[in-house]
Amino acid sequence: MSDLPTDATVAAARAAELAEQLHAHNHRYYVLDDPSVPDAEYDRLLRELQALEAAFPDLVNDASPTQRVGAAPTAGFESVEHRLPMLSLDNAFSDDEVVRFVRRIRERLDLADGAPELWFSAEPKLDGAAVSLMYHDGRLVQAATRGDGTTGEDITHNVRTIRSVPLKLSGSGWPSILEVRGEIFMPKAGFDAMNREAAANGEKTFVNPRNAAAGSLRQKDPALTAKRPLDMFCYAVGFIEGDPIADTHTGAIAKLKQWGLKTCDLVERVQGAAGCASYFASIGGERASLPFDIDGVVFKVDEFAAQDELGFVSRAPRWAIAQKFPAQEELTIVEGVDWQVGRTGALTPVARLQPVFVGGVTVSNATLHNIDELTRKDVRVGDTVIVRRAGDVIPEVAAVVADKRPNGAEPVALPKRCPVCDSPVQRVGEEAVARCTGGPVICSAQRIEGLKHFASRKAMDIEGLGSKLIEQLADSSVKSPADLYRLTWQQLAAFDRMAEKSAKNVIDAIDKSRQTTLPRFLFALGIREVGETTAESLATHFGTLEALRAANEETLLAVNDVGPIVAERVEQYFSEPAHNALIDDLVKAGIRWPDPTPVADEQFADSFFAGKTVVLTGSLSAMTRQEAGALVKQLGGTVTGSVSSKTTLLVAGEKAGSKLAKAQKLEIDIFDEAAFIQHLPASLRP
Ligand code: IVH
Repeated sequence: MSDLPTDATVAAARAAELAEQLHAHNHRYYVLDDPSVPDAEYDRLLRELQALEAAFPDLVNDASPTQRVGAAPTAGFESVEHRLPMLSLDNAFSDDEVVRFVRRIRERLDLADGAPELWFSAEPKLDGAAVSLMYHDGRLVQAATRGDGTTGEDITHNVRTIRSVPLKLSGSGWPSILEVRGEIFMPKAGFDAMNREAAANGEKTFVNPRNAAAGSLRQKDPALTAKRPLDMFCYAVGFIEGDPIADTHTGAIAKLKQWGLKTCDLVERVQGAAGCASYFASIGGERASLPFDIDGVVFKVDEFAAQDELGFVSRAPRWAIAQKFPAQEELTIVEGVDWQVGRTGALTPVARLQPVFVGGVTVSNATLHNIDELTRKDVRVGDTVIVRRAGDVIPEVAAVVADKRPNGAEPVALPKRCPVCDSPVQRVGEEAVARCTGGPVICSAQRIEGLKHFASRKAMDIEGLGSKLIEQLADSSVKSPADLYRLTWQQLAAFDRMAEKSAKNVIDAIDKSRQTTLPRFLFALGIREVGETTAESLATHFGTLEALRAANEETLLAVNDVGPIVAERVEQYFSEPAHNALIDDLVKAGIRWPDPTPVADEQFADSFFAGKTVVLTGSLSAMTRQEAGALVKQLGGTVTGSVSSKTTLLVAGEKAGSKLAKAQKLEIDIFDEAAFIQHLPASLRP
């Protein structure tokens, strides 16, 4: 926040400017459901105006954004007068501010220093839209938005579509008129799925689950709202006709739950500022893994009698406070859009940002995923953008603030040539991915990424061969993975910050990696569409590298988990002379793996097991499962790890579990150990 002016005229001018900005933001947020700035920015402006008004009380007037909660309802929905105003909450941004809040309350309640700590209801601050539900004789008669706190909009038809909102209360004992308040929100999983679908259809996506929830509630057609994955937690009681339903807030929430209303399981009763602080820390730790977005926690004095005594100040109760988490969204400026070239040549646009602190870290880059995403979001150099970093998710540009775009900003175009090696860039048909056509020999970016993949833990697992070293190597003598095996420690020691000892360690690690397994080796080659699991299936199915190299699309399709796309990629890979030269070179460099399990033996060509796809499960007594598997292969069968429709036989030993159940369900032939042994040729029986 900028320093407060001391001169009244300067203060008045600044207050007017802030009020105007806040009004505009309010309108976009509450009326259009399309905010152009993150909450953190809004909060800063509001706090600055509050501070100014505190220092210059003459500046306060009824129309000031500090004197009301939201904005007027838009035309299209009927207005609803709230029988009790729907208020807002004061914010705290540190444990200290909560300590002061608790102290203020104790003073107002005239509690002696030695009096026991106060009890609070501690709850997540849900990030959705506040609503009021009106029940008459246990039936939902009206649902309304908060609006400006006094007047909201009638959204009954839309709210009735939300499954977690009961149309009729259950149990008994509810007051004849009961108003319940709570938050309607969209769980993260539903939000992600909805946005994925919208993006796939080329439609506008929502910036965050809160906007999605608010937007869904203001659909003119309830059938559309019904399709949105909305949910609701009730967190307060509003107007009641008749006797109070409880003496405490947590007691009232428990009653609501009894009557079939949905409440949040994370609500707890805590004692004093210390109890509040530990609740805040524990919810903060869970935040990223919760199924819904929260932006802080709310502490409410639990005793209704104490709440009544404390009362309200203009827009918020004195008995409650919201402690906010660090913002997950911030504004910053795009300084450039760079194109990163991956291992397969894929070009990824990355926004270079003016560094900004968001979600607990400083962010200076954010991925834009691919050209389609870039086009859809229309991010341009110079744009002000909303950067979002939720939990451990990689930072992303959530949206552009359109009205802050500088004049003359041009759309970012896909480069025609690779920014690293200048080879032509190709985009096949409507594919989302554009690629550099240079290949690893010409394009150093592809070479570097390929080497990183080759050396990585799940591939050849070369310890100590990190990114920095690989980058230096790729610029000198290492043009292919096979060159790694020809390095000497003296060559490595010549690089920056490489002592003799570490150079020797790297050489040892490279040497150690020569002894590997076929699946690791296949994965390390970086064949497109061949991840760890597919590499494993290919190795098990073909047994040897030679057999795999000789495979064609048809034989590849017989492999478990291999579909037409993978089959095509694998065949393509092995039909490329450069790839075969690389493999030969690697083998010549001494890379080896254990002998394959025996391959089908000609003399058993008509065995029972020839051509069968067998799964072994449970424990066998006459031999191990590995030995049984080797026999099946020797007899021309295939052994796979999991039961699927391709499985033709299950051999079930003792204590067989889920695989047996699945095979029974799929009506696959099942042998016990005795039957298995009986079907072996006599010469191979144990
Ligand atoms: S109580 C008089 N409890 O925060 C107090 N509000 O800034 C009324 N909110 O409009 C609110 N979770 O949209 C309360 N557990 C919670 C809440 C919560 C989210 C929202 C609600 C309210 C806003 C106040």
